[in-house]
Amino acid sequence: MSTFYITTPIYYVNDAPHIGHAYTTVLADAFARWHRLLGDDTMMVTGTDEHGLKIQRAAEDNGVTPQEQVDSTSVLFRDAAELINVANDDFIRTTEPRHYAAVQELMQRVYDNGYIYSDTYEGPYCVACEAYYAEDELDDGNCPIHQRAIERMVEENYFFKLSAFADQLLDYFENTAGVVKPDGYRKEVLGLLRQELRDVSISRSSISWGIPVPWDENHVFYVWYDALINYATAAGFSSDDEAFEKWWPNVHHILGKDIIRFHCVFWPAMLLAAGITDLPKYYVHGWLLIGGDKMSKSSLNSVTPAQLINGDDEAGYVAFGVDGFRYHFLRDPAFGPDNDFSYEQMVTRYNSDLANQFGNLVQRVITVTGKKCGELSPAPSPESSLAAEAVTAYEDTARAWENAQPPVALDATWRLIRETNEYLAANEPWKMDEGAEVDTVMGDSLEAIRIVCILASPAIPAAAQAAWERIGLPGKVEDQRLPEAASWGGYPGGLTLVSGDPLFPRLKG
Ligand code: ME8
Ligand code: MG
Repeated sequence: MSTFYITTPIYYVNDAPHIGHAYTTVLADAFARWHRLLGDDTMMVTGTDEHGLKIQRAAEDNGVTPQEQVDSTSVLFRDAAELINVANDDFIRTTEPRHYAAVQELMQRVYDNGYIYSDTYEGPYCVACEAYYAEDELDDGNCPIHQRAIERMVEENYFFKLSAFADQLLDYFENTAGVVKPDGYRKEVLGLLRQELRDVSISRSSISWGIPVPWDENHVFYVWYDALINYATAAGFSSDDEAFEKWWPNVHHILGKDIIRFHCVFWPAMLLAAGITDLPKYYVHGWLLIGGDKMSKSSLNSVTPAQLINGDDEAGYVAFGVDGFRYHFLRDPAFGPDNDFSYEQMVTRYNSDLANQFGNLVQRVITVTGKKCGELSPAPSPESSLAAEAVTAYEDTARAWENAQPPVALDATWRLIRETNEYLAANEPWKMDEGAEVDTVMGDSLEAIRIVCILASPAIPAAAQAAWERIGLPGKVEDQRLPEAASWGGYPGGLTLVSGDPLFPRLKG
């Protein structure tokens, strides 16, 4: 059995989560769910990034301590993951003791291996601002904000010898197949690596909200060098060697393109410097835009997951439900490029794919089977024309998930739904008399639904399970194992169907 470890970025807790974060987290969850279906021993982790000046300032603005700030906001991200039905195996916070231990151990190794040196940073400093300025930012030698004389400050900083790893990183990104998906971002990384790699400052002595540098307690680590290490912490680095050895060789990071340099240049260099030679693989997506602007926590155009899931009368949003929300963000935005968020597209997609195609299929098959096939459901025919469609659907769906193309994967799965609806329209079982012929048509349709439930479950886990139960199947969709579970003929027949309200009621635009 192979292992699959997938992480989301850990989100800053300076404010509440929005659909940009939910987009990343749903993607990671869907990849994880797909790998669980493949039988991979899978771990999916998300969490929050809680140190640094941004958080310290947010706490000051809110009149609370940094710890109070992070405690109250981290829980919003934990709740957001739960709201969107993410099956994360862990939720990591960088203020946890296990993370302090991992950061200090990993960085101590880098230090002991000779890749960290101390140097002085010298520059104009405004005490009122508590900030350095570049010479050309000064106003006649004064602080541009306070218009008073600056002081020259000298601060000792620790630097990481990033430059020592240029060749190894180039080799890794040039020669490892599929290391970054989509491949365009691998080329972007190669471009970054071909520039001169300057050593980077990794500590701060001017702020206190961070993890202490173990060999010099006057410094804390710069927030990014604490944050990246969360991925190792969650895998067991410094707390559980066996777990770390199990998960680390198959670590996959999903991230937005805004943080490529940290993840694909600085982080693997730190790992190498610490003597960890297994480097991550990456899924990189573009930005969700609203009216051409990147959504961010600090801008007013943010939309929250709860508004779309539960509806928001004031904002004019109908309730898409959890699976409606997940499906849109997996099906519509192409993975890789930037995508404009469109509420109208979300409504259209829900009504066509979920209400009309999937929901109606399940409803119709259950109704007609109940009327024409007696108490117990019929079994599929081994020679059904749908059998070949099911093979194609599985193969295309699997290939697309492997290539990190969720929209392509779901389109391939939905093709089987459309084929089954066409099969019903062509055969018109509702016009048939009871007997072998109608049993075959309905048995085949039930079998197609069974396979769709499995293939669609990474995107719409709750609806897939509900449909599974309505066609009388026992157990959990998530316990099915591919490829065996997708082969034609798995629906046994002889089951009791359960009718109910539409799985996806139509929405008014
Ligand atoms: O960068 N479109 O945290 P962050 C798509 N703490 N994705 C978006 C998005 C948008 N408009 N807005 C945010 C940080 N994201 C660091 C990460 S990891 C060691 C430390 C998603 O709260 C996207 O995945 O700013 C992006 O990379 C991430 O949120 C940034 O979250
Ligand atoms: Mg950001």
